Amino acid sequence: MSDRLYIFDTTLRDGEQVPGCQLNTVEKIEVAKALEELGVDVIEAGFPISSPGDFKSVVEISKAVTWPTICALTRAVEKDIDVAAEALKYAKKGRIHTGIGTSFYHIHHKLNSNPDEILERAVRAVKYAKKYVEDVEFYAEDAGRTDNEYLARVVEAVIKAGATVVNIPDTTGYTMPYEFGEKIKYLIDNVRGVENAIISTHCHNDLGMATANTISGIINGARQAEVTINGIGERAGNTSLEEVVMTLKSRYKVLGIDTNINTKNIYKTSRMVSNLMNMPVQPNKAIVGRNAFAHSSGIHQDGVLKNRENYEIIDPTEVGINESSIVLTARSGRAALKHRLEILGYELTKEQLEDVYTKFLDLADKKKDIRDDDVAMLVDDAEKKERRIKLDFLQVVTGKTLQPMASVRLDIAGEKFDATASGNGPVDAAIRAVKQIVKRQVILEEFLIQAITRGSDDVGKVHMELEYDNVKYYGFGVNTDIITASVEAFLDAINKMKV
Ligand code: KIV
Ligand code: ZN
Repeated sequence: MSDRLYIFDTTLRDGEQVPGCQLNTVEKIEVAKALEELGVDVIEAGFPISSPGDFKSVVEISKAVTWPTICALTRAVEKDIDVAAEALKYAKKGRIHTGIGTSFYHIHHKLNSNPDEILERAVRAVKYAKKYVEDVEFYAEDAGRTDNEYLARVVEAVIKAGATVVNIPDTTGYTMPYEFGEKIKYLIDNVRGVENAIISTHCHNDLGMATANTISGIINGARQAEVTINGIGERAGNTSLEEVVMTLKSRYKVLGIDTNINTKNIYKTSRMVSNLMNMPVQPNKAIVGRNAFAHSSGIHQDGVLKNRENYEIIDPTEVGINESSIVLTARSGRAALKHRLEILGYELTKEQLEDVYTKFLDLADKKKDIRDDDVAMLVDDAEKKERRIKLDFLQVVTGKTLQPMASVRLDIAGEKFDATASGNGPVDAAIRAVKQIVKRQVILEEFLIQAITRGSDDVGKVHMELEYDNVKYYGFGVNTDIITASVEAFLDAINKMKV
């Protein structure tokens, strides 16, 4: 049996069925091109009879994409197949994906039919599709709950009718990995002519087992996996491309099966699909979630810094994630902080590092995670130690019906000075209080507050331009408290004045 698994991506068909995730044709082309770059073998581009939009997307994707096979879905209905064939007319390699329900539920309660009639309709649909394209895939909908013996009869008949690929969907996400694997093995062992077609998996995630079922199917002989980016799809979704591909890649020694996927494109394709579909990826999602390669506990961070493989089974760069995996939190140690400082280009002495680390723990108590801007602020703070005029204390009282009041204490060359002032706002009150102490007739030329905001606990940056004695001085302050950042920026500029 071949050791190559074909990746059939159905993000643009099954994935796009998610309510609220519909894409327009231009967006679909963008995704299709990304899938081509990713290296998928088949792109299921839509269900042409379902809407003019789907029809158009299949046409345009067929024109835009070069080497992957473009697939169009149909029911086992002649009109569906005619429309799909028409939509595929520009595809360099086109496939019609036709099929019908084969489980007891579908045969009796959806199609109001019987097993023999369903088998006959399946064969008729495959033969009809063969008139248009050589490559015909048949799906036995709800195969997960279909009796294996009957399923084998259907599979044998459609292969005889010319199906090149037979899809065994676990439509309702019902099976368990050992059952799904046994089902595939049963077909491989019992269907005459099975070697003339590729058996495909198409697993839904209702019990959270889509990837496990797919891998079990592959181990037992399936050589095509139907997947979506980020696992999006009906209800709990489909098997995710990234999980299957990275399982095969990282466990190659055991499984010995390969794909054509350029794994370095996985992360960017995941981001693109998530952004275009407005479908956030859960933070703990395997492979592409925000936390998939994030280490926050001190022990883990230390272990990863000593040797990445202590706590990582996949090198994040293999899936295109190049950011640091060390998340700085209150549990991070000095080694993690030093590592981040080095990445940011700071070389601190042991004493400076100690000072920054103490402040870092203080800040980490207030913030959930510390980003590069925060680290820059801490280093900036450490440098402030050398200044002549330092902020020692600041208290501001403000509110909707209150006149803002600020009390400030400055440390000027070791001596403490206090002042209190009111102002138009809390920043104005604080600056007025500082001015009472430094007694300089400075003019505030420019005042820029930048909230580098991702959340309300983020740091704010303040840039100030002061004029004193016809000379301009620039000051910069960063703090989680915007009033403190403003006073720091003011003092930064004042400290630069020689007179
Ligand atoms: O889940 C399913 O059974 C399907 C088929 C239409 C292939 O999506
Ligand atoms: Zn499906």
